[in-house]
Amino acid sequence: MSDLSAKAKASPNIAFIKYWGDRDPDLRIPANSSISMNLADLFTITSVAFQADLKADHLILNTRTISGTGLARVRKFLDRVRSMAGIDWFARVNSENNFPIGAGIASSASAFASLALAASSAAGLELSEAQLSSLARTGSGSACRSLPGGFVEWQAGDDHYSSYAFSIAPPEHWDLVDCIAIVSQVSKSIGSTEGHALAKTSPLQNSRLEDTPRRLEICRQAILNRDFEALAYICELDSNMMHAVMMTSSPPLLYWQPGTVEIMQAVQTWRKEGLPVFYTIDAGPNVHVLCQASFTEKITQKLEQIPGISKVLTSHPGGPAQLLAS
Ligand code: DP6
Repeated sequence: MSDLSAKAKASPNIAFIKYWGDRDPDLRIPANSSISMNLADLFTITSVAFQADLKADHLILNTRTISGTGLARVRKFLDRVRSMAGIDWFARVNSENNFPIGAGIASSASAFASLALAASSAAGLELSEAQLSSLARTGSGSACRSLPGGFVEWQAGDDHYSSYAFSIAPPEHWDLVDCIAIVSQVSKSIGSTEGHALAKTSPLQNSRLEDTPRRLEICRQAILNRDFEALAYICELDSNMMHAVMMTSSPPLLYWQPGTVEIMQAVQTWRKEGLPVFYTIDAGPNVHVLCQASFTEKITQKLEQIPGISKVLTSHPGGPAQLLAS
């Protein structure tokens, strides 16, 4: 035997209730639980081959060979898989996204979810969905939410085994569409990993954390009851609370660009005019505008008319990460 290989596919997810701040940065145990929706139309396919003859791990991302911190993060993840499986072979990892590089869509969630599934399967491990989710979390926190399908909750937990995500409703439950308005393709100067470490320096973070069980419950019920108005209210509130923490941490993080604010205001106006729509924003300037599927064309057209928006990507709710024939 000279090759242990597997290939897997996973989608990124958009958080409705956000993860911001770590209790354990090394294991990525979050300060709060979170809720998200997988994005079917965007995905990453990752193949992993552990080989007896390799002298080091190799990483190719969107056809480019990666070294430095990107490779180090993947190597650390592979070390965990190797120690779980009791193997010591290095691996070749090849990862490709179907969404444009530098489109400002966080790809670490789909990258580490597909890597967790491919690497554990290549190494001969048979893990449950919860175990795969915990494993993916150690590569990128939000990646644990891309293992289960549809609408997903990540229970913060308090150790490696209790911090994992599970599905609260399948993708068919509610045909929502995420219209992602690309405001800027420039990569951000402070990434999420550094941002999580700063969260506790904001005087607002504790209040945000204390209020999280309430927001989680409103969000869960809104999803289960397909209550768009309640979901719109809680998602905008949660996104604004996370950005308030970001803006008041030391040093402060301001991810918004003028185009970001323009879309936030437009979405609020459209809602007052009767369109069921809301926004949510991650650690970057692009805006996720959510609507029910029947409004997708209308919302996309309206977004495209706003000057400075270079592109609008759309996605329906997505299923779980899956193994592909390698
Ligand atoms: C703002 O999962 O990208 O998108 O664990 O350092 O990889 P790392 O962080 P990451 O953080 C996501 C932050 C967020 C909110 C969210 O997706 O919940």
